[in-house]
Amino acid sequence: MSKRVRTAVFPVAGLGTRFLPATKAMPKEMLTVVDRPLIQYAVDEAREAGIEHFVFVTGRNKGVIEDHFDRQFELEATLESRGKTKALEELQKDLPSAGRTSFTRQQEPLGLGHAVWCARDIVGDQPFALLLPDMIFQAKPGVLKQMMDAYEERAGNIVGVEECAWEDVSSYGVVVRGDGPDEGFVINGMVEKPKREEAPSNLFISGRYILQPEIFALLAEQTRGAGGEIQLTDAMQSLMGQQPFTGVKYRGKVYDCGSKLGFLTANVVFALDRPDIRPGFIEELRKLDLEDKL
Ligand code: UTP
Repeated sequence: MSKRVRTAVFPVAGLGTRFLPATKAMPKEMLTVVDRPLIQYAVDEAREAGIEHFVFVTGRNKGVIEDHFDRQFELEATLESRGKTKALEELQKDLPSAGRTSFTRQQEPLGLGHAVWCARDIVGDQPFALLLPDMIFQAKPGVLKQMMDAYEERAGNIVGVEECAWEDVSSYGVVVRGDGPDEGFVINGMVEKPKREEAPSNLFISGRYILQPEIFALLAEQTRGAGGEIQLTDAMQSLMGQQPFTGVKYRGKVYDCGSKLGFLTANVVFALDRPDIRPGFIEELRKLDLEDKL
């Protein structure tokens, strides 16, 4: 039987250069979609999938993420004295329990692979989920939950993928699809940012993984690849020679909130999906006479 996945790693030490100047002093992962920071969406998704331990790989200027997952007694007391019980309950619901979060520092943003490697001692010798918090999803059940279902059947390493337009493949890492259904197919390889005519598929890796701990030793051996960064994909390619990788083409859609366009689109889509916001938001959109402006 496969070892249960209890721990999730959230790399949050990147510089967020695509979102400057917003991310100069504020972590990208604290940008809000409607009224929740991106990192909260990722933590909620992990919790829904059964994750019990939340590991954050942070860096300079990211202290506010740690505060976000801590209690705020003054605020709680004020909400209570003002009878704002619903807001108070919401705040408490969002928090992982005491002792279930860990924070480590990447010290230098040397790439996603290096950020993951920084979590090695906290994760130890067990499989773990990896969630890139700037990618958020509209999916029911959540994407990690769908991947956990595949993991229970197939064990090994699991990678979430989504279809993109063929003309966009050169912006992504894509997989080589082998046998099996969308819910769990063999991955025979991965290619970072292929040319349209050389792409093995249009199934791109969208920021959700379940990985075996052997990845850490491979990350340690990695030299800097594309862009001078230590790439996760390179280590996954090496691990593929030793262990099975399964792709899950999940039911749902990703929004890349690390890009301005993805972030703006996510705000519209998520606002329209919120029963408490939707009616008022539609009214405001109508007032904008968008058809004239587009
Ligand atoms: P990105 O490549 O999207 O993040 O990494 P970035 O480097 O912050 O952003 P840009 O490209 O400059 O705009 C995806 C996730 O990995 C983390 C980021 O914080 C983000 O959540 N990351 C990236 C690290 O933790 N460390 C790194 O060295 C790089």
